[in-house]
Amino acid sequence: MGTPQDALTRIACLVEARYGLSPAVLEQRLCGYLGRSSAHDQAQLADQLSVAHEDHPLWQALIEGLLVHETYFYRHMDQLDVVTQEVLPLLRRQNPGGISAWCAGCATGEEAYTLAFMMRDAGLSARVIGTDLSARSIASARLGSFGQTPGLNSFRAMPAVAWSKFSAIPGRPAVWSVAADIRASVEFMVHNLVLPLPDARRMNLISCRNTLIYFSAEGQRRVEENIVASSGPGTILLLGPAERLRYTNVFEPLSYSHPQILHWPEHKAR
Ligand SMILES: C[S@@+](CC[C@H](N)C(=O)[O-])C[C@H]1O[C@@H](n2cnc3c(N)ncnc32)[C@H](O)[C@@H]1O
Repeated sequence: MGTPQDALTRIACLVEARYGLSPAVLEQRLCGYLGRSSAHDQAQLADQLSVAHEDHPLWQALIEGLLVHETYFYRHMDQLDVVTQEVLPLLRRQNPGGISAWCAGCATGEEAYTLAFMMRDAGLSARVIGTDLSARSIASARLGSFGQTPGLNSFRAMPAVAWSKFSAIPGRPAVWSVAADIRASVEFMVHNLVLPLPDARRMNLISCRNTLIYFSAEGQRRVEENIVASSGPGTILLLGPAERLRYTNVFEPLSYSHPQILHWPEHKAR
């Protein structure tokens, strides 16, 4: 019988191999998830996880217990202002037929809907796909209903004009639904970012914000490979403030003042 630390390390390694998440980043949440379970139970869980399919309830419960789904509408407004002023006009010129956008690690959908709102406001025809590992978050994103609970809710940074994109839900005070026509332009899918996106479209805009920070070096390498596979010359990539690419050099910052807004220059080969 190994020690609890052995079981914890084994489980963290299994999670990294399957989902690319960093054992160092996971450790605290893993300790919280395992709680006061005995060394025997933890070792047994590690054994079961090592042979179970990813759809197995043990894997699903573990993943839901470890992931961090913090998100809200119009997050990082300073970056989104640049997207509205500089990126969307560029995308419109380059893609007169319409925009394909991928929100990679979309949690409960606020970021994917924000992109859809912004493109709608800019008069762009767009299809947005939002993906996340968490089946629970994706189910919630598809519903498109968000509670305006006191404190840090999904609307905490939303500009007042964006309320026009929501309607009240009869009988559910303080719950707001994304307008049906906008909901119809956003598709949500459970997807593990260390695997290639099954959607074969070349994306014009990819937002992968506040997600890479959870990955190990090898996990991030795999995510970057899959982002590149869904991109091409002209693709714009948005990262979170604490994130940077480490393995691919096809993307370059659009400007020095916004290093987390990257683009794939037209002349650059894969
Ligand atoms: C902190 S949230 C960021 C949400 C949103 N992008 C934002 O910036 O507001 C990070 C999301 O990454 C997702 N995630 C973590 N590992 C993933 C993986 N291997 N594949 C897909 N999504 C993953 C989590 O489930 C979580 O919803």
